[in-house]
Amino acid sequence: MATRLYPNLPPGYMWKSGVKVLLSGGILYAGTELYYGSENLYKMTLPIAQKYIDGEQSHQFAVKMAKYGLLPRAGYNLKEYDTLKTNVFGRDFINPVGLAAGFDKDGEAVQNLRKCGFGFIEIGSITPRPQEGNPKPRVFRLTEDEGVINRYGFNSQGCGPVSARIKKVFDPTNPVLLGVNLGKNKTSTDAGPDYEVGVGSFSSWCDYLVINVSSPNTPGLRSLQGKKELGKLLKVVKSSVDREEIESGRRPKILLKIAPDLNFRDKRDISKLVLDKSYGVDGLIVSNTTISRPESLNSKEKEESGGLSGKPIKELSTRVVGEMYQLTDGKIPIIGCGGVSSGEDAYEKIKAGASLVQLYTAMVYQGFPVIGRVKRELDECLRKDGFTNVQEAVGTAFPEIKRNK
Ligand SMILES: Cc1cc2nc3c(=O)[nH]c(=O)nc-3n(C[C@H](O)[C@H](O)[C@H](O)COP(=O)(O)O)c2cc1C
Repeated sequence: MATRLYPNLPPGYMWKSGVKVLLSGGILYAGTELYYGSENLYKMTLPIAQKYIDGEQSHQFAVKMAKYGLLPRAGYNLKEYDTLKTNVFGRDFINPVGLAAGFDKDGEAVQNLRKCGFGFIEIGSITPRPQEGNPKPRVFRLTEDEGVINRYGFNSQGCGPVSARIKKVFDPTNPVLLGVNLGKNKTSTDAGPDYEVGVGSFSSWCDYLVINVSSPNTPGLRSLQGKKELGKLLKVVKSSVDREEIESGRRPKILLKIAPDLNFRDKRDISKLVLDKSYGVDGLIVSNTTISRPESLNSKEKEESGGLSGKPIKELSTRVVGEMYQLTDGKIPIIGCGGVSSGEDAYEKIKAGASLVQLYTAMVYQGFPVIGRVKRELDECLRKDGFTNVQEAVGTAFPEIKRNK
């Protein structure tokens, strides 16, 4: 029988202690990396985790992490830059990088999401009445392309429960602005009253409201982007915002979120409507997901139906940002959204005319540290080109318009 190295210790003591030390070290290491928003930790662990959990489960897990504050609390995420401070719609932003709609659909993690480095966050889409959305599976990762296809179909707890939750946490003095994205119920035949309910539920409890008429997963929704229907809807929204302002004294900014798949006539009509003050639109979000499938896609999931997001839509959405900036003569603030996963991507959208940017799918592949990366790299891009502030770079791809503004 082998002689024991420390005969006075109980049997198994040494290896048990060794395992404890290794485990505690591992937990301490992971905790520190999580706290500091290590880009490497997420890069190493995400692909492994994603092998075992599907798109929707990962999404729910990430929302829970955010809800319980397991988010970067130091490091690059929390670093702010003078170059990135900006003022849009008459509101100050600590940086121009926001969270796009669809991540925190029911506003469960607002408080912590406001502490992890974003300049603004958007919750929703929220429908007036609760609804389940489409049958599962309905979220597909296109890993080789760094894209996602989703056909959630507005799964929402509904305006009542979400506004009750938001009322408790909304703080109008918080420097990280809060947006609420509004949708309509699948079974509603008239969109107007649905958006009126949304406006009534959230006007007093957010900094901006988004009229989402561009999700591809609710039948008929995108046809609301046509001139006649959109004009009618925007008038309804404006009167209900006017009414709410009289009652509460608060008036959120109103943004319209559009699809990247519109034809030129629709884009021209939309720009005319938003330029007309009587429709009350303060800005545009360009864009939602696309129903198109670029030739370049390699992942087998590309055949799934739904809206495609992430890297594969980056160029398309940047192109539409540029078109809308030109059509509106640079007079309407644009939030550029679609495939932002680096500072360079954000910078391209800004040069095309975006005053702010949003991201979502990049978090699927890079985790929360992507926020810190985009800010750090965007600061570098701006300084390299001699800009002292992000506002100076907005629309510089179109010098004619920039000069006329
Ligand atoms: C899983 C998922 C769910 C989404 N849900 C919504 C939504 O409810 N409302 C909405 O306006 N946009 C929604 N979007 C679209 C995003 O807000 C964004 O416009 C689009 O994904 C492009 O940005 P990205 O490439 O950075 O993800 C969703 C996107 C994804 C990936």
